[in-house]
Amino acid sequence: MERPEWEKHSGGMGEKVCLITGATSGIGRATAMGLANMGASVVMVGRDRGRGEAALAEIKQKSTNASVDLMLADLSSQEEIRRLADEFKEAYPRIDVLINDAGLFRSKRITTADGLEMTFAVNHLAYFLLTNLLLDVLKASAPSRIVNVSSGDHTNGTIDFDDLQGQKGYKGAKAYSQSKLANVLFTYELARRLEGTGVTADCLHPGAGVRTNFGSGVTGIFGVMVRALRPLMISPEKGAETSIYLASSPEVEGLSGRYFVKKAEARSSDVSYDERLARRLWEVSAQLTKLPA
Ligand SMILES: NC(=O)c1ccc[n+]([C@@H]2O[C@H](COP(=O)([O-])OP(=O)(O)OC[C@H]3O[C@@H](n4cnc5c(N)ncnc54)[C@H](OP(=O)(O)O)[C@@H]3O)[C@@H](O)[C@H]2O)c1
Repeated sequence: MERPEWEKHSGGMGEKVCLITGATSGIGRATAMGLANMGASVVMVGRDRGRGEAALAEIKQKSTNASVDLMLADLSSQEEIRRLADEFKEAYPRIDVLINDAGLFRSKRITTADGLEMTFAVNHLAYFLLTNLLLDVLKASAPSRIVNVSSGDHTNGTIDFDDLQGQKGYKGAKAYSQSKLANVLFTYELARRLEGTGVTADCLHPGAGVRTNFGSGVTGIFGVMVRALRPLMISPEKGAETSIYLASSPEVEGLSGRYFVKKAEARSSDVSYDERLARRLWEVSAQLTKLPA
């Protein structure tokens, strides 16, 4: 029988199941497209049915890969993250790659349905909770990979345990860089905890200034900067290259607890290597997501 067109795509991803959050826009969408082009079974996570179905239709049509699926979840809600994990496990017996990409910037402090500050909840706690809920199936599917999209801006971050959620004084830039540092600390601690399981955990900076929806609608100096710099930014496809590389390349097989920029290992900020800090952040995150530490 003639093989369907997408099975002929190269890249050795034909048997792989990849779950990608933030897949309706920007870097996540371009990552989903790239992996669909390589023949992977791609499960896109979006929060809005209209945007999700539009992205799904475009990726299926352009990649000619029929194995692209959409699951809906608002990742600011822990209940929805739990439902997403259950739904995924019911539909798929395995997972080869989990890409945590969904992220945002908020100039003003807002809280989620769980009463948590939005930036911390979506950019960090959602990565933490979804990953932990999928760890059993990631381990059963080993060798498997976890890829966390952080940012070079993590270098401006500190973890402010006295005011983790900006209740005393909220600044969008501080909350964002803290959340992106949390992505790196989480990745390194996760990699330590996963040693010997065959599951790797790495993180990345997609590029300084990727032309996505990121920051659109943001007010204040950050919003002005993002809009002014748009013409100089790199494309979402370019911004997705390191995520796709970490998800698919044999070159990084078995490599864990690393930070990548432009498809090459790089050094992250000094504070990101602080193991005590990473353990403390893990414990607080476990409490906030009602997981065992
Ligand atoms: N753009 C850059 O220059 C840059 C640089 C460094 C790092 N990053 C990182 O790259 C990642 C992707 O950002 P991007 O630039 O591609 O931005 P984007 O175009 O705004 O995409 C963000 C994605 O996250 C999703 N998302 C946001 N809040 C969500 C929620 N509550 N529940 C579910 N999904 C949610 C969005 O869904 P909707 O489509 O529904 O809004 C969208 O799919 C982020 O983690 C960001 O920190 C970006």
